[in-house]
Amino acid sequence: MRAAAPGGFLVLPWSGGGSSSDPEQEPGPGEEGRGGLLLRTGALLGLTVICVAVLRRWIAGGVCRCSVRLDGQTVLITGANTGIGKETSRELAARGARVVMACRDLTRAEQAAEEIRRSTGNGNVVIRHLDLASVYSVRQFAKDFLDSEDRLDILINNAGVMMCPRWLTEDGFETQLAVNHLGHFLLTNLLLPRLKSSAPSRVVTVSSIAHRGGRIDLDDPFFIRRPYSPLESYRQSKLANVLFTRELARRLRGSGVSSFCLHPGVIRTELGRHVEGWFPFLRALLSLPSLLFMKTPSQGSQTTVYCAVTPGLEGRSGRYFSDCAEKEAAPEGQDDEVARRLWEESARLVGLKDTC
Ligand SMILES: NC(=O)c1ccc[n+]([C@@H]2O[C@H](COP(=O)([O-])OP(=O)(O)OC[C@H]3O[C@@H](n4cnc5c(N)ncnc54)[C@H](OP(=O)(O)O)[C@@H]3O)[C@@H](O)[C@H]2O)c1
Repeated sequence: MRAAAPGGFLVLPWSGGGSSSDPEQEPGPGEEGRGGLLLRTGALLGLTVICVAVLRRWIAGGVCRCSVRLDGQTVLITGANTGIGKETSRELAARGARVVMACRDLTRAEQAAEEIRRSTGNGNVVIRHLDLASVYSVRQFAKDFLDSEDRLDILINNAGVMMCPRWLTEDGFETQLAVNHLGHFLLTNLLLPRLKSSAPSRVVTVSSIAHRGGRIDLDDPFFIRRPYSPLESYRQSKLANVLFTRELARRLRGSGVSSFCLHPGVIRTELGRHVEGWFPFLRALLSLPSLLFMKTPSQGSQTTVYCAVTPGLEGRSGRYFSDCAEKEAAPEGQDDEVARRLWEESARLVGLKDTC
């Protein structure tokens, strides 16, 4: 029996006291306590699972819900052997496209391509060698592509390098600007005849929210006179992606070729490889939080796929997207005068006389 004490408190008998006459009917207070604890732990676990699921859903961001098929179309994706590029290749292969994966490491590229062929059932997935850090390689690649491919419906400028040390390419360019912008600038220009003949066609360039606060220094783009900052260089290159997209759209108005750029989100890929090199324990330290707070590569590919396949986006050519929706680029990404000057300087650097 429980007794109400003066003041309304419930007086519980001591568990070891044996005062309960029928333990079958009335559970002992120890069991009650354990039951309560179990209940509270279960509720807490349930709440945690729900919170993590809601958080993960929110982190995942937008999903491309458009079910357009790409049978008979050709897609070219740079940096497709891993990360976002590999998952974009998989998504587009699953829609029936011929997918050309342009990569610098052909062994990893073939492994990725084989995995994609198996998982999508699309055997029309091929690899080709492309090193965006080399003007020679880009020109060679473009020549082979034009000689052998009849169509180019979607070009995805995805490959990228982030915050590497100040490395110079064989052409004497700083690596981040060379790979992220100049290589793609040259590639797109050289492939324009095929994009135009396949119109309506699209160029999708993977930029980053890091373009915000970026600055294009046309007097010293390769950090020769100013101290090298890996972050400033990455920002400059990603701002160049946004300005390139804008200027390309302006120059191609009426041609049937549209141009889009995007921020894919914050994704668990190999992009941080150079940053992790400075702090060897960083990867281990961040592995658990990254599982919670970063997109998977497949989630990270959604905005690229959205820009590549969503019908009716042509009127938004030149714009910036994030989470499968159009977003405002930073003011520095809307400067038409800098975009025009960057285009002219890029053409001079890569030795391109005839641009669109
Ligand atoms: N991950 C993010 O959170 C995030 C956020 C914003 C923007 N982005 C952008 O998303 C794009 C894809 O990055 P990711 O996250 O998927 O990174 P990733 O896993 O490191 O993949 C980058 C790809 O680019 C390739 N690449 C690098 N240098 C190259 C070169 N010289 N020639 C040809 N290919 C080259 C890499 O090839 P190797 O494997 O041979 O090195 C790899 O296939 C990049 O443009 C990046 O700036 C990513």
